[in-house]
Amino acid sequence: MKQLLVTLLLVATVTSTAYAAIKVIGKGDVINLDTSSFPPAMKANYEIFRVRCAQCHTLERAITAIQTGVAPVSGGTFDSNAVRGHGVKMLRNSDMTKAEVKSSVELVNFLLAEKGR
Ligand code: HEC
Repeated sequence: MKQLLVTLLLVATVTSTAYAAIKVIGKGDVINLDTSSFPPAMKANYEIFRVRCAQCHTLERAITAIQTGVAPVSGGTFDSNAVRGHGVKMLRNSDMTKAEVKSSVELVNFLLAEKGR
């Protein structure tokens, strides 16, 4: 019984804080994140992500994936492995540089961690 209560409490906590740390502004083509609380390095990474990761699809695709934990196209789990996988793919299939991919992947991982807080 005690275990059940602890489980329920955990589920409630995780559910209520799920989107707390990521502040989304707008949607679709003009979707953006409020970066005012980001550390400086992540603000810089965000600028790269915002421009370079929105060349083929809008940022909404990545932001939705981060928020829901589900990769919107493949339907798989969207976690740090999935981000790294897409980063490697973009290194081959786009004109993004290694540094740009690295910064963007770092930013996504930062957001995934923020979401979980
Ligand atoms: C060259 C074009 C291109 C660029 C640049 C690009 N993407 Fe994508 N992205 C795609 C395509 C095409 C898909 C469809 C699924 C696939 O092919 O992986 C996709 C799918 C995704 C998905 C969903 C994955 C899934 O499996 O559902 C996410 C999240 C994503 N991109 C994030 C990003 C991020 C973050 C960046 C910047 C590092 C980025 N994309 C840069 C073309 C691009």
